[in-house]
Amino acid sequence: MAGRGIFAVRDVRSLISETSEEGTQLKRAVGATQLTAMGVGAIIGTGIFVVIGKGSSLAGPAVILSFVLAAVACAFSALSYAELASSIPVSGSAYTYAYATLGELVAWIIGWDLILEYGVSVAAIAVGWGGNLNAFLDSAFGYALPDAIAAAPEDGGVFNLPAVFIVLAITLLLVRGVTESVRVNLIMVVIKLAVLVFFIVIAFVNFGTGNFTPFAPEGVDGVTAAAAIIFFAYIGFDAVSTGSEEARNPAKDLPKAIIGSLLICTFFYVLTVIGAIGIASPAQMAESDAPLAAALDQGAGLNWAAAILALGAVVAITSVVLVIFYGQTRIFFAMCRDGLLPRRLATVNQRYGTPARLTIGLGVMIAILAALVPLGTIVELVNIGTLFAFVLVNIGVIVLRRTRPDMPRPYRVPWSPVLPLIGIAFALYLMSDLPWDTWLRFGGWLAAGLVIYFAYGYRHSRLRTVEAESSALSSTPPRADDGPATRPDDDGTAPRPDDDRTRS
Ligand code: ALA
Repeated sequence: MAGRGIFAVRDVRSLISETSEEGTQLKRAVGATQLTAMGVGAIIGTGIFVVIGKGSSLAGPAVILSFVLAAVACAFSALSYAELASSIPVSGSAYTYAYATLGELVAWIIGWDLILEYGVSVAAIAVGWGGNLNAFLDSAFGYALPDAIAAAPEDGGVFNLPAVFIVLAITLLLVRGVTESVRVNLIMVVIKLAVLVFFIVIAFVNFGTGNFTPFAPEGVDGVTAAAAIIFFAYIGFDAVSTGSEEARNPAKDLPKAIIGSLLICTFFYVLTVIGAIGIASPAQMAESDAPLAAALDQGAGLNWAAAILALGAVVAITSVVLVIFYGQTRIFFAMCRDGLLPRRLATVNQRYGTPARLTIGLGVMIAILAALVPLGTIVELVNIGTLFAFVLVNIGVIVLRRTRPDMPRPYRVPWSPVLPLIGIAFALYLMSDLPWDTWLRFGGWLAAGLVIYFAYGYRHSRLRTVEAESSALSSTPPRADDGPATRPDDDGTAPRPDDDRTRS
């Protein structure tokens, strides 16, 4: 640790060695294929099945280019995630990397920011889930839930019941444990790829070129504005890094999975969006809550295919809710355990072996958000938060190369710092294309985070309190009548003996 100020950093070696201590070691059971599937599981969801509609309204057929632009922007940051994940294979993703490189304050900011990327995005994904559920009910049974219970107030409803339902259902699943999640996820990934292949085949069989002109009605501005929104569709490759400690061979497999899942999804996305424009006009897609289903129904006139697609989308999006929500609980757990948030929230439920209290608390908050806030608003907020995390991860690579040049790096970003700098530039470029009120909300979120850090996290951080405790212990010889040691910051909850070393 370098000092006790707000820029105190955690030592990379101790972070890694902590993961292999007896009693706190997670099982390294996940191979490269399963990790890649985890990435694909987290990526393909509301973005391609729903947000594509908003993208088409901004860019017209040139939304195809927006998909490519967003993928290229992600690729540079994916390389940086790969380097950090392979050299610091510890759970917590960007939050942990920042703690090891840029210090506690930045780690807190990024952790707080990741709550936007993971927690708030679960709300957005759930809203997309509800849209596709309704499209399925409509295509299959000619019945759709009324707007009053299927849309946020701003969209003409009262609250979004399907979104609340899926969030609470996944909350319960996560509380009960996710032992089977990797296998279940693999099945859902196969289904979602099959659904996209189904869409692509049908679209190319019914393909026409009529919808491709005018290609870019809003010009380059339309393409970049749409890319800033479409970016949402790619979020998730970084979620692979939240499961680093479970990777069988993190050094090799994490970079493969991070970059591989991004490549696979880009390939499917580009074919899907070309196919979609081949059968439906951007306006037809923009008006729907389930644009790909609408493309099959109204564009190609294939109602039965729309029903299958919508059902597949419901399954596909379920896995995104699962993986992203899971990632959120892991990051939140790590932050609580580090003392930056109340440590008592990180208690593990004895019966289920999961952080149940924390999961339920988060689930309820996310469900409220999903019930009341429209999709577009949440997506923009999530995107700005994630892009900001990408900026910090790229900076982390550059900083760590200078501060720890000799650290083993099984995977190295080529031409550093050039590629990380390009990653930063792309992220800032997409951020600059988001509306000013999104910036305002983001600024408000960060400001609230800083208040919480200085009011709570700074004083309760384990980095500080443990050092204070050890110096107190070394200067005060124990007396025979001393009671059991408790940490001054523990809010009355006694520390567990392995407290310090437990890493999820
Ligand atoms: N990329 C994820 C989705 O599109 C977040 O749902």
